[in-house]
Amino acid sequence: IDRYCVFGHPVGHSKSPAIHSAFAEQTGEHLEYTAIEAPLDDFAGAWRAFVAEGGRGANVTVPFKEAAFGLCDTLSERARRAGAVNTLILGGNGLTYGDTTDGVGLVRDLKRHEVHLAGARILVLGAGGAVRGVLEPLLTEGPASVRIANRTAAKATALAEDFGDLGTIGGGGFAAVEGPFDLVINGTSASLAGDLPPLPDALFAAGATAHDMMYGAEPTVFLRWAAERGARPVDGLGMLVEQAAESFFQWRGKRPDTAPVLEALRRSL
Ligand code: ATR
Repeated sequence: IDRYCVFGHPVGHSKSPAIHSAFAEQTGEHLEYTAIEAPLDDFAGAWRAFVAEGGRGANVTVPFKEAAFGLCDTLSERARRAGAVNTLILGGNGLTYGDTTDGVGLVRDLKRHEVHLAGARILVLGAGGAVRGVLEPLLTEGPASVRIANRTAAKATALAEDFGDLGTIGGGGFAAVEGPFDLVINGTSASLAGDLPPLPDALFAAGATAHDMMYGAEPTVFLRWAAERGARPVDGLGMLVEQAAESFFQWRGKRPDTAPVLEALRRSL
């Protein structure tokens, strides 16, 4: 049986085994997908051991996305730009290929919500690894502009410079944010602490969408704040399922139907 897994630390809470098992059942693919807690100091060793036991591919989550990037023999262009890998694929030649599907997952979920990215004025909050991973797919959709705002303004400015060749993109601190925006994406980890970045009240254009990469049984503090100001809230559960579907496609060449899997996952929160 072909083996796949998600590597994380911790990894017990991961929804990936449930998602990929559902995809496998739906598409008739015979595979096993488990969660493996890799040691913090030897991610490469964990991957090699998994391959020795029949592993064909893996998802990679916190805190190993940069370590996974470092061990790959070849990388997709989007993984190279992201500086991170969330999908490992064992090639027939025994080489390890790395890809990142987070950004394409975000874009697919936004399209599923009928968000028009072409021509949109987009604000992205945060300048860490999660944001770096989605900028290339977002810019490829042809937005009017992308603004990055971060608590540490210099990180946002540097990130905008790294992606400046792909479109109109700028960065700075929260205080410099000037709306309106058609789409605001929260890629900070502030929601985890129940914090809200300091943002102006007049942030959203008419018909705007607010997306939080986080999700939970209850809306995040950012999504509640956004909904009170008239934006349509979308949490990160759809992005999670869509990035998984893209990884599954990379491994098996089949595209699962994400809607029923997302629905079941939503009910289980
Ligand atoms: P990730 O891989 O999830 O992106 P990260 O690289 O550590 O993790 O980045 C976390 C992001 O959340 C950063 O943009 C961070 O802001 P700083 O660069 O100023 O540290 C942001 N962040 C974390 N906690 C925050 C808070 N309470 N308020 C605002 N921003 C926060």
